[in-house]
Amino acid sequence: MEPSTIIANIGYLISIACFILGIKRLGKVKTARSANMLSASAMAIAVISQLVELGAIDYQFIIAGVLLGSLIGAIFAIKVQMTAMPQLVAIFNGFGGLASTLVGLSLFTSAWFALTGSESAALGGLAIQGTAGLSTAITLILSIVIGSITFTGSIMAFLKLSDTFGRQFGNPILLPARHVLNALIAIGVVASSYYWIASAADPSMSINMAIAITVLTLLLGFLLVIPIGGADMPVVISLLNSYSGLAAAAAGFALGSNVLIVSGSLVGASGLILTSIMCKAMNRSLANVMFGGFGGDAAVSSGDKDQGYANVKSSDPEEAAMDFDGIQSVVIVPGYGLAVAQGQNAVKEFADQLKAKGVQVRYAIHPVAGRMPGHMNVLLAESSVPYDELYEMDAINNDFQATDIAVVVGANDVVNPAAKDDESSPLYGMPVLNVDESRMVFVIKRSLSPGFAGVKNELFERDNTRMIYGDAKKVLEEMTSHLNED
Ligand code: TAP
Repeated sequence: MEPSTIIANIGYLISIACFILGIKRLGKVKTARSANMLSASAMAIAVISQLVELGAIDYQFIIAGVLLGSLIGAIFAIKVQMTAMPQLVAIFNGFGGLASTLVGLSLFTSAWFALTGSESAALGGLAIQGTAGLSTAITLILSIVIGSITFTGSIMAFLKLSDTFGRQFGNPILLPARHVLNALIAIGVVASSYYWIASAADPSMSINMAIAITVLTLLLGFLLVIPIGGADMPVVISLLNSYSGLAAAAAGFALGSNVLIVSGSLVGASGLILTSIMCKAMNRSLANVMFGGFGGDAAVSSGDKDQGYANVKSSDPEEAAMDFDGIQSVVIVPGYGLAVAQGQNAVKEFADQLKAKGVQVRYAIHPVAGRMPGHMNVLLAESSVPYDELYEMDAINNDFQATDIAVVVGANDVVNPAAKDDESSPLYGMPVLNVDESRMVFVIKRSLSPGFAGVKNELFERDNTRMIYGDAKKVLEEMTSHLNED
């Protein structure tokens, strides 16, 4: 074995170990930041090892690519708001898928040139013919199929979540006979794949089949995501993330790259685990998410602020602050609105003030609060809220009955009791935080507008609920200053 190959293999091993360790450490808020650095370094080690293995090559394009990629990454990191992270993840997944498709197609075209005897045969592409090429052909096809579905599916997910295209586009778009259409396309993909492999010695047939597979799977990606409502997009994005990993692993098989196979499989597996956790958090099956058309007719448009609310009681920061006198326990429920208001410091100061008065303060974290997995953990970590004050839903849900006051800050869907008792609600079955069981509930938000799922929240009409209208940060700051006055 060449010394460069030995060095490269050691590099691959180190990077694989760092990837695995990085993923493990991402599981805890405390270690997530260093985990990110570790995983990014693992990627750098993998790229450098690959370059060492390749030896003397033309670095022009590689350097240009690294510079351009770093520039784009830096711009995104600086400019994109935390609340727009799901869209960003969706588009990044999409590019991962596109990369796998392009790897598959470029390997195929170099093999094709080799077969047709064109001068590009010098590229040394692999010939897709005979049994020796069968497994390569299958992995090539898989990387194109999964990559293309991931690419257009992710573009569709991005468009659905993007504010530019409006909420209407985010609703499920149910095309007539969509299941039949999808089935026909899937049959077309399988048939084209068969003819591609069977016609390996016939260059014009094989290139036609490659084009057919690419076009059909690009179309399939759009069609699979178009009927899914915006409220289910986090699950879809997580699933597409898993697909992008599988596509990369398939490309790794085609390229004979062990590090790509392992890292792609890690992404594929962790994406699937996250998808399953999110489905569990919503008490829905994956099939229901993919084909259920959630968030359609039953959902109320976010523009409809009236929604027939009756007997809603409101309070203000000064009056509310008085209700905290002499109480023992408070549970704060952060939601997406806290992130919008950037109220993480304000909520910490509010909690500190309560703690100074001897009140026990805990935070209840719903697994899909906010707009991305772990959104609330990251937000509260920014203001150094102690980790041991954060409670996952299952750990705190039985404690609300014994809680004096639940303070819901910019959360809506995750505290909607309709999920428990209204079978007609699109949220029905999703586990929610039992804030309604607390002695008293304050809901801090700007209006009676619905949350992400677009449905009415009967919590706002409950006898023990008081709405405090306003921007979360402003209201919390005012409440803290009134607590201070006592
Ligand atoms: P939502 O149900 O989306 O409710 C957020 C509420 O925040 C809105 O009703 C809004 O009401 C309020 N708000 C917005 N800006 C505010 C501000 N500046 N100050 C105070 N309040 C403000 O949030 P949630 O309870 O966190 O639930 C999350 C939802 O997002 C779920 O439906 C979930 O399925 C979905 N989702 C989750 C994820 C993940 S993985 N976490 C990803 C995508 C989607 P006003 O306009 O009246 O203020």
